[in-house]
Amino acid sequence: MAGMTDLTSQYSPSPETASSAADQLEQPPLRLTVIAASVRKERLSRVLAEWAAGRASGIADVDLIDLAECELPDDEHLVPGGGPRSAIADRIERADGYVIVTPEYNHSYPAGLKRAIDWHYGEWMFKAATVLSYGVHGGLLATEHLRGVFAELHVVTTRRAVGLRAPWNDIGDDGFTPPPGTGEAFDGALRELAWWASTLHTARRDRPFQR
Ligand SMILES: Cc1cc2nc3c(=O)[nH]c(=O)nc-3n(C[C@H](O)[C@H](O)[C@H](O)COP(=O)(O)O)c2cc1C
Repeated sequence: MAGMTDLTSQYSPSPETASSAADQLEQPPLRLTVIAASVRKERLSRVLAEWAAGRASGIADVDLIDLAECELPDDEHLVPGGGPRSAIADRIERADGYVIVTPEYNHSYPAGLKRAIDWHYGEWMFKAATVLSYGVHGGLLATEHLRGVFAELHVVTTRRAVGLRAPWNDIGDDGFTPPPGTGEAFDGALRELAWWASTLHTARRDRPFQR
C-alpha cells in the first residue's frame, strides 16, 4: 500500500473475532490515551495524533497527551521506578491502553518519549499499547525499540503496528489525508489494542498480578 507499511498478515485473528470478544466483556467504556511523541516546533506528531484520536474515538473514550505541552520534573529527581508524581501521571494511570504516535529519530524514538516513559512506572503496568510510527520508510525501528522498553513495564504491544511512509506528503491545511488503506490498517491495530486493553482491564481488576 502506498505510503504505509502494514504488518498485518493472513495469520492474524479476524477483526470480527477480536471485536466480538471485547464486546462480550462487561466493563466500563474503554479508555485509550493517544500520545503525540515529538516536541519540535515544526513537528508532525500532533496532527497525526489528532487523526489517530479521531479514529480511536469510534471504539473508546480518548484522551490525547501532547508531550510538547507537558512539563516533566527535572531528571535529577528521577529514581528507579519513576520519581515524584508528574503532571500527566493521572492521565497515564487512567488509561487502559495507549496509542503512541511517534517518528523515528536516528533509528529509534525521540528522547522526549523515553523521558515520559521513564518518569512513570506503575501507571503503565499491565496495560496495552499500539504504535503509529512514521518516517522515511515508516519509522518501524521506533516501534521495535518501544516493544522492548514496554515489555520491561509489563505493557503488551499489539502485533499489528502501522508505519506511515513520508506522511509529510499527505499533510495539508485539512490535516492528514491518509493514503488508501491506511485507516483500515490502523483500525485493525486498534481492534487488537481494544482486545488486549479490555482483557487486561478485567485481569487488573479481578486477579491483579502479584509482583
Ligand atoms: C533528529 C532527527 C532524526 C531523524 N532520524 C530519522 C531516522 O532515523 N529515520 C527516518 O525515517 N527519519 C528520520 N528523521 C526524519 C523524520 O522522520 C521527520 O523529520 C519527521 O517529520 C519527524 O517527526 P516530527 O516532525 O514529528 O518531529 C529524523 C528527524 C530528526 C529531527
